Amino acid sequence: MKDILTLGIESSCDETSASIVKNGREILSNIIDTQIPIHEKYGGVVPEIASRNHIEAISRVVKEALKEANVRFDEIDSITPTYGPGLVGALLVGLSYAKALSYAINKPLVGVNHIQGHIASNYITYSELKPPFLCMMTSGGNTQIVYVKDYTQFEVLGKTRDDAIGEAFDKVARVVGLGYPGGPKVDKLAKEGKPIYELPQTHFDNLDFSFSGIKTAVINLNHKNPDINKADLCASFEKAVTDVLITNIKKAIKQTGVKTITLAGGVSANSYIRQEFLKLEKEGIKIYMPDLKLCTDNAAMIASAGYYNFIAGKIDELDLNAVPNLKLPEGRLPEGRFSWQ
Ligand code: KG4
Repeated sequence: MKDILTLGIESSCDETSASIVKNGREILSNIIDTQIPIHEKYGGVVPEIASRNHIEAISRVVKEALKEANVRFDEIDSITPTYGPGLVGALLVGLSYAKALSYAINKPLVGVNHIQGHIASNYITYSELKPPFLCMMTSGGNTQIVYVKDYTQFEVLGKTRDDAIGEAFDKVARVVGLGYPGGPKVDKLAKEGKPIYELPQTHFDNLDFSFSGIKTAVINLNHKNPDINKADLCASFEKAVTDVLITNIKKAIKQTGVKTITLAGGVSANSYIRQEFLKLEKEGIKIYMPDLKLCTDNAAMIASAGYYNFIAGKIDELDLNAVPNLKLPEGRLPEGRFSWQ
């Protein structure tokens, strides 16, 4: 069978990335142009600056991806940009580039939901992985448990009611003086501390999450005692948010009977979270976690998700628009049951 080559394009936040992926699983190139050093001095991503930098980078990044993969434009089978969720101006850069390219070289355009992309990062890391499985999706913009029924069929079983977990990591880092992006810095410092502070965890009857209580408790402790040991505070924060993730994933396993779990999203790079999830394997649960370099935003995961959309016939028209609050379908019915119950 002929190989299928996908050009993935990602520009939803502060990474301009392009990638060529073969048959949805094999990376031929994955160029990531990060803007982190540019946004660092502002303590977070400035949307307008992000858009401008994407415009400057996009053409070069796509050309580099083709060159490194040794692939010509005419050899590509589909062009798969992220069209949401994300910053609208940033999304529009990658999407507009992809639409223009699709028109110019007459290749199909296949829009990809960024969250679907994060989920697909596991297909690249594990060639044997197949749906169904549950995905614990933890990133800067999202925290949700997704029931991945098939490659293009998803149901969100629970999600955060306030902060995304990555937002909480970034806020805690800022408060204790670690800077942006906070997650990796909290991860590093927490290794030197002990989780000696009991922080208030919020648990719901269903599979929803809340992290604002834990975050506020950290801020208050730090405010009341500026000399507090920051490493202990970071370790306590990490333990509290991880406990919440593990409690909910165990509930989801019980409700669905699905015992294969994947992690995805930037926060799944966290070493404590990875270590605690791996402990679940002792309970007969299979854990998959993406390669560290595929946890944060990159176009290879978008190309992988795009490949599965493409072979399922999900081709888009050239009027595809950016959808900043794009969501995966929810599995919860109004009466609180799930669709399979
Ligand atoms: O998935 P991602 O690159 O962007 C979104 O799609 O949101 O995730 C970025 C988030 C940031 O909040 C960052 O602080 C967090 O992932 N992050 C981490 C780690 N590495 C990145 N959080 C905790 N521990 C890490 N090692």
